[in-house]
Amino acid sequence: MPTAYPHPQKHLGHAVNYLTGNHEYDIPKETVDGEIAQLRERLESKPSFNPNLTFDPEKHLIKDPSAKVLSLDDLKIKKTRAAPVCDFAATYPFPLLTQEAVDMVLWEALRPEIVEKYGRLPNLAKSATRLDFHVGGHCSRWAPFTQALWNSSELREILESFTKVKMKPLFSAGHFNFSLAEKDATEPPREELLKKYSEQSNGDDVPSSLGMHYDSSTFALVIMAELDENAIGGETGIVTGDNKFVRVPDPKVGSATLIQGMVLKHVATKPVSNSNRVTAVAGFCVAGPEKLDNSLLTSVKPSILPRQNYNEFYNDWVQFRLTNLAEHILHYREQLKTGEQFDQRDFIAHCQEMESYLHKCWDEMEAHYNPPYPPKEFHISYDEL
Ligand SMILES: [Fe+2]
Repeated sequence: MPTAYPHPQKHLGHAVNYLTGNHEYDIPKETVDGEIAQLRERLESKPSFNPNLTFDPEKHLIKDPSAKVLSLDDLKIKKTRAAPVCDFAATYPFPLLTQEAVDMVLWEALRPEIVEKYGRLPNLAKSATRLDFHVGGHCSRWAPFTQALWNSSELREILESFTKVKMKPLFSAGHFNFSLAEKDATEPPREELLKKYSEQSNGDDVPSSLGMHYDSSTFALVIMAELDENAIGGETGIVTGDNKFVRVPDPKVGSATLIQGMVLKHVATKPVSNSNRVTAVAGFCVAGPEKLDNSLLTSVKPSILPRQNYNEFYNDWVQFRLTNLAEHILHYREQLKTGEQFDQRDFIAHCQEMESYLHKCWDEMEAHYNPPYPPKEFHISYDEL
């Protein structure tokens, strides 16, 4: 079945060596041996540091039910690129993790073997340097503490209290956006930085380690893992239905925001100051078996996101999708048995929904379709969707 774009191409915004590890995006040695090693050593030198720490929801999760929640309606978002799974749009930052938990999550991502295998520079970032990079996809195999956090029922309860839908973490949950301060750099005066910050009013031009985008997962939980006290900027920026660029205010280390990133256009901004900013992001989707998830490959496939490990990513993706579909079919079969009057229209509609789910398992794969990246929808207003 030929398509318009059968092969990834550099000039279309693709990372073309996705089969062999995208090594041209390796994090430079200067950064690995310099700023990354320094950050890791700082974590390891804390008196309480314990590399075998296990996740304890009672001890590590902060339960604060007071977070302010914004609906898509509140943000005046009417048209969306995909059908929203609920009216929830975003929360204001809410305290979620203790410092000990934040340190452990960060340390698990910063171990040398993890940085080497799962860390890469981003593709197509705005004003990125050797100090802006991603680490991710390591949690399910190599980060027991972080993985236990994503899978904890206590975390799920907190998130579901915002969204009011059943949720589960994505198969590859755990992506870290790093923007690190340059060692020994001289900084312009603070007034100059504040001026630069106030001039950043257009979300498309704001420097970031990942440009303006929609997520390929339904929800994104964004936890501030590291932010220097003197940092100016570094918030998550979102675009509202009337095309205004707003920064979600005041992120603190250990605080989190949850967004329905599949339908909310957003950007992770870089601080204008020479500061560390690290966020831990986890994708969540609706949990079955009644509903099928609406996850995409658009911005996470290995030819777009260089840090993806090709084999691990696609094996996990197809396991995740086929398991969801199998559980859904089983659930639907049970339901069918109880009906008295057979409803053909309903059965046809259901089959079509499952067909399109199966189709979405492969229709963005590199062997099939590689349209230019970023797609047009990342840059047009909601009204033009
Ligand atoms: Fe995102």
